[in-house]
Formats: sequence, structure tokens, C-alpha cells
Amino acid sequence: MCGIVAYIGPRDAYPILMKGLHRLEYRGYDSAGVCLINDDIRIYKCKGKVSDLEDHVSGQDISGTIGMAHTRWATHGEPSTLNAHPHISQNKTLALIHNGIIENYASIRSELKNRGYLFSSETDTEVLVHLIEDIMINEKVPVEEAVRIALNQVIGAYAIVILAKEFPDKIIAARKGSPMVIGIGEGEFFIASDATPLIEYTDNVVYLNDEEIAIIERNKDLKIKTILNKAHTPYVEKLEMSLGEIEKGGFEHFMLKEIYEQPRSIQDSMRGRLHVDHGIVTLGGIRDYEQKIINAGRIIITACGTSWHAGLVGEYLLEDLARIAVEVEYSSEFRYRNPILSEDDVVLVISQSGETADTLAAIDLAKSKGATVLGICNVVGSSIARATHAGVYTHAGPEIGVASTKAFTAQVAVLAMLGLLIAQKKGTIPKSKFQQLLIELDNIPAKVERILKQNEKIRDIATIYKDVKNSLYLGRGYNFPVALEGALKLKEISYIHAEGYPAAEMKHGPIALIDESMPVVFIATKRGIYDKVISNIEEVKARKGRIIAIVTEGDESVKALADHCIEIPDTEEMFVPLLATIPLQLLSYHIAVMRGCNVDQPRNLAKSVTVE
Ligand code: G6P
Repeated sequence: MCGIVAYIGPRDAYPILMKGLHRLEYRGYDSAGVCLINDDIRIYKCKGKVSDLEDHVSGQDISGTIGMAHTRWATHGEPSTLNAHPHISQNKTLALIHNGIIENYASIRSELKNRGYLFSSETDTEVLVHLIEDIMINEKVPVEEAVRIALNQVIGAYAIVILAKEFPDKIIAARKGSPMVIGIGEGEFFIASDATPLIEYTDNVVYLNDEEIAIIERNKDLKIKTILNKAHTPYVEKLEMSLGEIEKGGFEHFMLKEIYEQPRSIQDSMRGRLHVDHGIVTLGGIRDYEQKIINAGRIIITACGTSWHAGLVGEYLLEDLARIAVEVEYSSEFRYRNPILSEDDVVLVISQSGETADTLAAIDLAKSKGATVLGICNVVGSSIARATHAGVYTHAGPEIGVASTKAFTAQVAVLAMLGLLIAQKKGTIPKSKFQQLLIELDNIPAKVERILKQNEKIRDIATIYKDVKNSLYLGRGYNFPVALEGALKLKEISYIHAEGYPAAEMKHGPIALIDESMPVVFIATKRGIYDKVISNIEEVKARKGRIIAIVTEGDESVKALADHCIEIPDTEEMFVPLLATIPLQLLSYHIAVMRGCNVDQPRNLAKSVTVE
């Protein structure tokens, strides 16, 4: 959700803050603000993107070696200058930025109003800055103590940074349920809601844990305590991320760069794990839990968005390969049900960001019922990675485009390896088949590379369909989740209404929508339930629907029926999602670009959803 960045040290803070905000803009982009302290405390903020803030600030006093900045994704209060962060306290001595939601803000707000506090925004955040000031005044305590007392009164999630005019050499930061990382440089500190703004300055980082408060002072060691006032020794970790990974590298958009990275990212997700020569798969992160999975009564996969689609592919893979019953749940539903879970169950959570609030809550629920919780995460050190009992990183590298692409294929690759690993241990597939699958999985990156060569052709198809209002994506078996993912990609970034459906379900509803203006994207690869899908294509054609088909190289039957065919190399049925998704990502990308949409930052969406 919102992006936070702060700095204290010998350099000018403003350029560091702005560069950091640009890096974090994928987290939220409806308004932005910055606060600097020199002799006075100065706040500049406006509706719009970080570049709008830069225009707004131009010509103003931007001096100061301590400061913080924020890019917002609105929860409470519309995107506006007044609702933008930082928020300032009544006597204008404290400023605060926040990511998360203060759930009991209404009661705190009315109490403060009764005591004469005036509110200038509609946000939940503003209560916190007034509350901290109120505590400082009434209890005569320094700012860090007032923050601690205030946070004990707050229900909800927060990552906050506070600057105080009276303490121009101090930054207070705290977190609960929203991420916060502190980069430690030579005599300087960088604070941010994820590591991307820090990497060019330092690779020594401390991830704050829930209910921890950091007291960051100029030329002093970092201090951390809990909101219950218990001191914690900061645990300094090495950041493994390079600058090149978070830059566009010559591509017009991060999304396109990330689509093109997939041969490499899928390879990276398998590196050191898929040992074709030795005929084994190893997943070091869950080695101690292999027996638990083998003995599991059930695996419940829980996730949101694109990660949920990867979970659906995982269901097919794990049931096919490992013969373990799998259920797939939206985290947001799972967390509020009363699911029947036992110590025999394994809950597998999938998350790119590792910060999705609903998925984190699902983990808590599963743990409270005694289940073993394993994670498949992309962001190293993220909250989900730390909250699970064990897990496997996808190693796709930072994903900046809001619409997930390379994270999805890396998740599916990890799920395929998990299925193979358990299958081998359980002996659920013959040795020869296992080896054949290993070889084929190893071939996938090269096959993805071949698909990317069809970019021009896919762009031509996009030109024809860029102005449609609706579209349907149909697939069966392993291609059903691919249809869902293809439809999600299109609606996310081009704002065209798109629905994914199991192809055979078409006749129970969507077929009523089909006429000559409705493009239908079929994922109609050979193997699986190919013949039946051909019948579905015939049904669409009979109703004058326009057909775009993803087919296996050399296919002739679908070609005879479809308006357009995009060929993908043949592969094992269970690995088709790793290939068939790629042309659908490109199709959505080109359509969105042609419609003039902001591909990397689609309206109303955010990369990591840290609120419910
Ligand atoms: C947001 C993102 C999606 C992502 C989903 C789940 O909606 O825009 O791309 O799939 O959250 O996020 P996670 O980080 O848990 O995979």
C-alpha cells in the first residue's frame, strides 16, 4: 500500500527522499508529501504522483538533513492534498506518515475533538499525530515515549515515521502489520517500507518486527524497543538485491521488463533445486517439513489475486503428482471462516510481496488451529516469510509492475518442484516419468524465450482488439487458472471487462454474452481435454464470437477455426501454465499501452495490499 521513506545523516535529505518515493510509487500513487526539518518543520504535499509533488515543491526551501516522505494509496478519505501525508499535530511541532489502518480511529478522534483538537483531514492517520502530541503535553514525556503510549491505545495496522521539531536529530519509526526496514549506513540511516529505496546506499538492514519502535538518532546507535517497553537488540541482516533489478533497464515499462525476465526468473527459481543430472529436487527451506507434507491429510493453499491463481495451478500439480488432497482458498475468505483444520493439515500460503494483510491473517488463524504453515514468497525477509514455519523463496527478483507477471510463473515453478519432490519421496509416479518431468521443467525457460519472440505478432493482435468493451477467457484443466490469470491481467491494466471461465462452464451463462463484438481467448493447447475445448470453440464460432487461441506449435485443428492463433511450444500438460500465461501477459500489456493506460501503476490498485 502506501510507501514510506525517511532519512537522517550528513547529506541533503530531499533528493534521497524523492528518489526513494519514485522507487516506492508502485505501492500507492494517489497523493504524496514530504517533511523536512531544519530550524523549522516544513511540509509539502499534493494530490497526484511523486512527479506532481516535485513540481509543487519546486522553488521552495528543501534544505535539511533529516526528513521523511510518503506516497499514498487511499483507504480513509479520498485522494486529496488535505488527506495526503505527512499529517501535522495541532501545535505544528510533530509530523507523521503512516501506512496501514487505525481501526479505532473514530473513538480516538471524538475523544480528541472533545479536548479541543481540530482535524483537517478525513484520514484515520491524523488521530495518531494529535494523540502523540496530547500525550507529550499531558504526560510531559519525550516523543518516543509518547509514541509508545499512543501505540498501546491503537487497534489496527501501522508502519509510522514521526519527526518532531524539538528533536531535529531524531526519527521515531514503528510497525505492526505493515512492513518497515531500516538501512544502516556510515553515520546515516535510511528508513523505508521496503528495501528498494535503500539498496544504493547500504546493504546492512534491520527489519522491524511487529510492535517494535525504532529510535534513530544522528551519530548514535540504532535503538529498538517494544510497545511494552522492552529493549531489543537490532538484528542486522545483509540485503541481497542489486540496483539493476529495480530499474527499467531500457524497457518502456517495468511490466514489459518483468515479462521479458521470465526465462531468467523461472531459471532462478529452480537454480540449486532442480538437479536433472542427479534426478532429484531439493527445497532446502522446507527440508525439515517434507515428512509433514508427505503425511498431511490435506494441503490448504491460501493466497490473494494472482498468487491465488498460482495456487489453483498448485492444486492440480500437487494432486496429480503427490496424490495429496488440496483445497485452494482466498485468504480474505479463509480468515473469516471457521475452517476445520488439524495438526495433520499443511497450509501453504503464496505471496509475492509477503505483506498481504489477509494472507498474514490466514497464517495466524492456521497456526492457532495447530496446522503447519509453509510459505512460497518472493520478498526475502517479508512479514509472511517470517510468520510461516518454513518456506521456499521464489527468487524472481523484485517485481515493480503492479500487475504480477514473473512472480506468477516463479510461484508455479516452485509448486511444480514441490509436487515433484513429494512425488519422488512418496513414490507416487514412476521413476522414468519423474526424470522425464525434471528434464521438461528444466527446458521451460528456453521455451519461454521462444514465446517472447512472438511479441510483434501479439502486438498486432492487440491492435485489433484494443477498443473492445468485454472479453472472455476460457480454458480447461491446467488452463483454467491460466484463463483466470489472463482475464485478470487484462482488466487490471487496460480496464476492459474480462472474465475467466472453465471452458465447459461457458454454456451455463457466458455463452449468452457472445456476439460478433465479443473476443474470446481460448487456451486450447494439445494434451489435456483438447477435443472438448475444440467443441467449445465451435460453439463460440457458431455465435459469431471472435476467437483468439493459444495453441500448441503445429496445431491445425484450432487454426482452422480461430481468427488468430498464438503458438507455444509443446510441453507436459502440467507445465503448460508456465508457457500459456506469457502471450496473455503480452496481449494485455500491448492493449493497455495502446489505450494510453498507466501500465505499471493502474488506477486504484497497489502492489502490496497491507490493508483488508
Ligand atoms: C495485489 C497485487 C497483485 C497480487 C495480489 C496478492 O492485488 O496487485 O498483483 O497478486 O495483491 O499479492 P501477494 O503479494 O500476496 O502475492
